[in-house]
Amino acid sequence: MVCSASIIRQKPENVRSKSSVPAGLGSFKIRIGIIHGKVFDPIKVGTQDRHYPEHLKIKNNTGPNAEGWGGQFMADVSTGLKMMKLHPDIFHVDFMTMEKVTEKRLSRNHLTFNFWGDVSIALMNNKPKLARRLQKIQKNPNFRHHPVWDYYEWILHKTRYMKACERAGIPMIDTIHLEKGFNAREVLKKIVAKGWDKFFVKPAYMSFFGAGVINGKTQDFIDNIGPLLQYEAENKHQKEFLVQPYMLKPNGNVFDEIRNFFIDGEWAYSVYTDGVDYEGFWEQPEGKLKEACKKLAIQTMEEVKKVHKWEGKRMNSLLNRIDIGIIPDKSKKLGYRIFVNEIEPQITTWLGRYCPFVIQDRMAEVCVKQASEMLKRSLAAKRKMPSPQKVRQLLEVLDAWMCLNLNSVCKDVLEPYLSV
Ligand SMILES: Nc1ncnc2c1ncn2[C@@H]1O[C@H](COP(=O)(O)OP(=O)(O)OP(=O)(O)O)[C@@H](O)[C@H]1O
Ligand SMILES: [Mg+2]
Repeated sequence: MVCSASIIRQKPENVRSKSSVPAGLGSFKIRIGIIHGKVFDPIKVGTQDRHYPEHLKIKNNTGPNAEGWGGQFMADVSTGLKMMKLHPDIFHVDFMTMEKVTEKRLSRNHLTFNFWGDVSIALMNNKPKLARRLQKIQKNPNFRHHPVWDYYEWILHKTRYMKACERAGIPMIDTIHLEKGFNAREVLKKIVAKGWDKFFVKPAYMSFFGAGVINGKTQDFIDNIGPLLQYEAENKHQKEFLVQPYMLKPNGNVFDEIRNFFIDGEWAYSVYTDGVDYEGFWEQPEGKLKEACKKLAIQTMEEVKKVHKWEGKRMNSLLNRIDIGIIPDKSKKLGYRIFVNEIEPQITTWLGRYCPFVIQDRMAEVCVKQASEMLKRSLAAKRKMPSPQKVRQLLEVLDAWMCLNLNSVCKDVLEPYLSV
């Protein structure tokens, strides 16, 4: 971190309370786009910004028709608001839903963080034209859209990351990877060869919310392959599928998950998610199970770190969720069989209401830190962006602010020892 000498020479209190802007920048700010739409991902009650814009509130989101867990204040918008609150003189956040994303708009921003509203969501919402527009933007580094395309593709192709994890010796569900479409008769033969009495098929690319799955007893499909042929016909547009044994608990219910969240590459919190009970969510309590899942998730995160890059160089991701499946199993010392079921990017549910800290506060701090690093790299790579010289100057102010903040933290920690 470089501390600009001219700025450090200012009174620390002035710099710490508000990021002071060198004369000449006027009202210029670094523009951060936030693509939002997590209408199902509310923040903790009472933690919303006092000036949460009316038009960004999700109104009437209560009762049986509410999206997700209801509420009007969401995690994605709250993160952007907090960024501006942390550094009102440095950042302006441009909030947009995916429908409002255009090349022109992203070109005006210095960076754009996509928290909800990518190609896969446009496709899920039956908007192929929008999906094409988003794809063009996501693929082109000149639009400075985060996450970058290669990493995004790695995470959306479940087969790619599953194979990487398998190579690293990470336990996963035994899987037949189909990469050239679904052929019912061939698949059934492979399932029989595996000896699975029940199986589960899911698309492996751009799928979520359990969309497009089929499962059942192998013998039933041997007796009547009709439904599997129908599945083949309905899924001609998909190339990649995962075929797995049907993973059930001894009580016959589908496996549960402990979802591990990583912020800025660090394990941050974990949330239990029941396999069948829609209300079954809570912060995973302390204990051996939590620790074992955390350890496995950290090992998995190492694979993510290898592919998450900005301007061609590794960089911590803003947020990832690593879902560890758990099945009670008396033959294991832990009492559970655990395995990685899924890796999710920042475009996922953050479940901040079950997190032990205020999610938007932590995310905003990390977004500020990462934005600074990304912009420095993009400036060095000579990406075309509005007023690069002014961006450089503001980044220096931000660096100075961070240095001073860090110094004051060090001082607080050292003070008791210094006064002895
Ligand atoms: N092999 C399996 N056996 C039994 N159930 C499974 C299996 N794989 C997935 N499921 C069930 O389907 C749900 C969705 O599958 P998964 O999480 O793998 O993919 P997804 O569609 O990307 O999910 P998400 O809803 O988390 O976005 C799981 O939460 C689980 O309940
Ligand atoms: Mg899942």
